[in-house]
Amino acid sequence: MNVQDAIRTRRTIKEFTPQAVPADVLDRLLTAGTLAQNHRLTEPWRFCILGPQAHAALAAVDAKMATKPVIVAVTCALQGDAFQRKEDYAAVACAVQNIQLAAWAEGVGMQWSTGRTAMSPETAQLLGIDAQAEEMVGLLFFGYPAATPPARARRALAEVVRRLP
Ligand SMILES: Cc1cc2nc3c(=O)[nH]c(=O)nc-3n(C[C@H](O)[C@H](O)[C@H](O)COP(=O)(O)O)c2cc1C
Repeated sequence: MNVQDAIRTRRTIKEFTPQAVPADVLDRLLTAGTLAQNHRLTEPWRFCILGPQAHAALAAVDAKMATKPVIVAVTCALQGDAFQRKEDYAAVACAVQNIQLAAWAEGVGMQWSTGRTAMSPETAQLLGIDAQAEEMVGLLFFGYPAATPPARARRALAEVVRRLP
């Protein structure tokens, strides 16, 4: 799949088959994240891959988590001044986009979640994320799509562009 096709057909996937995503596939996808652009090579992304025990513990807090075959928490290392932190957060978003497109290109679906469970201090504590050192960017749910929703409409380019003389 070429990049344009991946961008144009990508969807946020929320319903997954029970099929597990092999560890080597997941590693390949997260590696795609680590290749994202990042200013001054701060490499601010951190990934926490939930094993069966952590996954079950999260599902005990939010039963929906049991329907997500693989859960990875993505955080941004808190380094430098306010401007660097803004840039680093942007770089982590680039990493997530890389991961989702790489996943899509090989048939793996993903949802980026910033819902209540993803952003709660209890979840951070459960996953051993130190709020002083890392900021939660979200939970990524991975799996093979059970349902692929239709494209959500976007505004026409002309509505979001100003062309200067
Ligand atoms: C920062 C961020 C946070 C998101 N959090 C959620 C979320 O908590 N729950 C959810 O259903 N989708 C979430 N999404 C996915 C969007 O809802 C989704 O991208 C949007 O509906 C467009 O659908 P598409 O990705 O299939 O084009 C998030 C996306 C981004 C970029």
